[in-house]
Amino acid sequence: MARWDYEAINYEAIKTEVVAEDQFLKKLIAMASFVEITSDLYEKNLATFYEGDEEIVGWLEKTWEPEEVQHGKALREYVRHAWPELDWDKAYRGFYEEYAPLCTLDEFQPTRAREMLARMVVETGTSTLYRAIQRYAEEIGEPILAQIAHNIHKDEVYHYEAFDQGFKKYNESEKLGRKEIVKVVYDRLKEIKDEDAAIAFKQIAPGEDYEDFRKEAKRFAHRYYPYKMATKMLMHPLGLHRHIENATAATMEKALHVLGI
Ligand SMILES: [Fe+2]
Ligand SMILES: [Fe+2]
Repeated sequence: MARWDYEAINYEAIKTEVVAEDQFLKKLIAMASFVEITSDLYEKNLATFYEGDEEIVGWLEKTWEPEEVQHGKALREYVRHAWPELDWDKAYRGFYEEYAPLCTLDEFQPTRAREMLARMVVETGTSTLYRAIQRYAEEIGEPILAQIAHNIHKDEVYHYEAFDQGFKKYNESEKLGRKEIVKVVYDRLKEIKDEDAAIAFKQIAPGEDYEDFRKEAKRFAHRYYPYKMATKMLMHPLGLHRHIENATAATMEKALHVLGI
């Protein structure tokens, strides 16, 4: 059972007048809705990758996928109310056509423990993004968006924890060392540089420059992104002692800035 239900949210209470002029926010939410709602494709690939592991595959099918798709549906409903000028279905069709062929098993890590780490990086990315959106929504006085972002954030943290369990399980046999862990995390972080977001942007803002959007995203991140939380989550698989973790956290935080996250 999901922890919340997107149909129980009162979209009629959205402060549309607050959001109407906020082009950046509307685009950000629409882009997120596309990627989330397409999680079923990713789930199939993950289930194939972890074939034979009933525990993981069962969780992916019964919990992870429905929750990710629900994120997409909540955000889609939000967009339909807050940005009625956007033809969501049409834009999504364009997105899907270009995005779906890119969701292949080739993108996966070479081993099961490594892929668990990669998934932890992705869930770190999503959980911190929704935390930032929640903070922003609270500041502009849009409680419905804050509520949705909070719900999604919590799910993403839970996903992160489940993949962390999976990592521990597989790393008992793979025994990746810290150097290898850092490499997987760093490489996956670089990839987050948003092929899927760029494809989504093209459909929701045709003719506009994606680089301009990225610049705005950087400004947004600078103010609202929880860098400390991201750093902690990314470093967690290293299993460092607290005092070492604190000493390296500042370097890691800088790395996130350099990567433009
Ligand atoms: Fe999600
Ligand atoms: Fe997630």
